[in-house]
Amino acid sequence: EDPRIHGIKTKIRVVPNFPKPGIMFQDITTLLLDPKAFKDTIDLFVERYKGKNISVVADRFSFCPSKIDKGTFKGIEARGFIFGPPIALAIGAKFVPLRKPKKLPGDVIFEEYTLEYGKDRLEMHVGAVELGERALVVDDLIATGGTLCAAMNLLERVGAEVVECACLIELPDLQGRERLNGKPLYVLVEYQ
Ligand code: PRP
Ligand code: MG
Repeated sequence: EDPRIHGIKTKIRVVPNFPKPGIMFQDITTLLLDPKAFKDTIDLFVERYKGKNISVVADRFSFCPSKIDKGTFKGIEARGFIFGPPIALAIGAKFVPLRKPKKLPGDVIFEEYTLEYGKDRLEMHVGAVELGERALVVDDLIATGGTLCAAMNLLERVGAEVVECACLIELPDLQGRERLNGKPLYVLVEYQ
């Protein structure tokens, strides 16, 4: 394991019974207060996706060459927005926000999903991602996997290819990984 991961984990505050009784909440705001731990977090993702050229997959190369070098990052709000943009900037990818209802002014497509504690909907601008584009989905945390699953459905509906999902935190007990239909998921820290 990368030695930076331990430092990252010590900066994530675990809050019992938030936002509801029985929920253990992983608070990443304490990580953001520590510039080194925050930078280490971004760096670990950047090291994985930069230079590796996430788009070097032969079957897509001839299909959409203009997108090949850039890739597309999708950040899931609100906490996904904290991690997605710095990763995208560092590797030279565009950033596409997935947003909650009624936030995007243009035409949207949407997916409804169930959260660990509630129900919600994700929207994406029509045209933000094109047919054949290769996308990495970034979020702070995977719990039940409902959010990432909705994000992947949106991308697949517009004909994009989800290359990988990347999260800072996984709660493996909730088996969210199993909802990703075999898509690779990269995480830095787990909480049992
Ligand atoms: C949280 C978290 C993930 C999601 C994971 O988002 O940021 O996006 O839950 O849960 P899941 O794997 O069960 O779908 P939430 O919508 O609660 O709040 P946020 O707007 O602060 O990101
Ligand atoms: Mg979220």
